[in-house]
Amino acid sequence: MKTVPAIAWPRRVGSVPRLWRREVAAVLIPEEQLARRVRALARQIQRDYQGRDLVLVALLNGTLVFLANLIRHLSLPLRLDFIGVSSYGAGTSPGRLVFTKELGLEVGGRDVLVVDDILDTGRTLRRVLERLRRLRPRSLRVCVLLEKKARRIEPVKADYVGFEIPDLFVVGYGLDYAERYRHLPFVGVLHPRLLNGYGRCWPGQASGQKEPGRQRSQPRRH
Ligand code: IMP
Ligand code: MG
Repeated sequence: MKTVPAIAWPRRVGSVPRLWRREVAAVLIPEEQLARRVRALARQIQRDYQGRDLVLVALLNGTLVFLANLIRHLSLPLRLDFIGVSSYGAGTSPGRLVFTKELGLEVGGRDVLVVDDILDTGRTLRRVLERLRRLRPRSLRVCVLLEKKARRIEPVKADYVGFEIPDLFVVGYGLDYAERYRHLPFVGVLHPRLLNGYGRCWPGQASGQKEPGRQRSQPRRH
């Protein structure tokens, strides 16, 4: 795999659109940089899957913006399907994993590329890959927009990675916090006071405050 661009810890506030300044502390990856990198990933995938029987399997819901932008740059025949996963746990912490939508397409003997928003601890992808492997695809690879190496628990590797990011909780471009912020056109970092339980939400700080109105038992859709 080619070198993955690494994003540094944000030092500056500033580029956050006025509407979002109360919630978003910094833009980590701007819209234009995301667009350029997603096009580059698409070129790489297109080269690697020429003449193959490609099935993209995207995880709901976090892949929505990444996937839409990736597939429009893929000029090759492909099929597309989705798997739904939710975890039950508090705000930013992982919990028990539940499948909310099963795969519909037949993937046996086909070249499967799993698309996810972010590879964090690796728990989600490990479970998803285990399931897919049982269906005996011809090949099975992983494409993620973001990767946080620091938090890996499971030995999952992604074959295509958009950006490596520091250990920060990020939102936007499909990624959410309590189902909010998925529609932001950039990847940003929230003000620490809004986050609940994620150790490092901002350089040098640990968050302690609870977000009002959020129940511990609420499912968190990926
Ligand atoms: P895992 O820890 O690798 O299993 O990641 C599980 C899921 O948690 C990802 O697919 C995301 O939906 C979510 N996630 C992990 N880190 C972040 C983050 O920084 N912001 C928003 N969602 C995240
Ligand atoms: Mg996800």
